[in-house]
Amino acid sequence: MIIDSHSHLDDKRFDEDRDQVIEKIQQANIDLVINIGANLSSSKASVELAKQYDFIYAAVGVHPHDASSYSEKVEKEIISLATHKKVVAIGEVGLDFHYDFSPRDIQLQVFIKQIKLANQLGMPLIIHDREAHQPVLEALRKYKDEKTIGVFHSYSGSSEMISDVLDLGFYLSFNGISTFKNAKKVHNAILHTPLDKLLIETDSPYLTPAPFRGKRNDSSNVIYVAKAIAKIKGITIEQVYEKTTENTLTLFGM
Ligand code: NI
Repeated sequence: MIIDSHSHLDDKRFDEDRDQVIEKIQQANIDLVINIGANLSSSKASVELAKQYDFIYAAVGVHPHDASSYSEKVEKEIISLATHKKVVAIGEVGLDFHYDFSPRDIQLQVFIKQIKLANQLGMPLIIHDREAHQPVLEALRKYKDEKTIGVFHSYSGSSEMISDVLDLGFYLSFNGISTFKNAKKVHNAILHTPLDKLLIETDSPYLTPAPFRGKRNDSSNVIYVAKAIAKIKGITIEQVYEKTTENTLTLFGM
């Protein structure tokens, strides 16, 4: 099986041809796609896609960019969406101190609220961490309960930080950045991530892998991510598919 564990097929860049793109993804033998919410409307759209297509599952949550949009009303709607049987995680949530689209104190408050939500609902977390490694780790250590696990999507920390992530019981996910020649830090992180803790994703429409950099990304390109990881780890692509599938199904209880 081949799984894209992180995609945004609800993105407006697919508005013109979404159905054709999804058909292309199925024809490329991608078995499962998890579509990730970034705010209330994209969380709703993710659930709609999951209802429409058997092979699409959803995550619901509010991205740090949209933290300012979080309210009690939004939280109630996220909880209600999360009860749908094809919603497998709370995400993506976390901190983004690179763009700072929402004030940092608000980002942190909203992140903590959603960690508590995952605890309460017994669901895993999909973490967005950009230039906020220590505060993300601290919030998780402090607020997640013993059972709550999750994944650092588009992992961008050092290879030293991997032990902190593993101590939390979390997984690490890699995307098209793994195919970039100059992405030494990510290559090194892949090398140091145990195979039983590794997930693959596209983060489409963003982060298009080589050789298609510059074009719109979609879930069918997850095969280039698997290829790059196989090369870095010195294993076969089949081993990458086998382990990442097992990890994804375990993490999300699918
Ligand atoms: Ni994303």
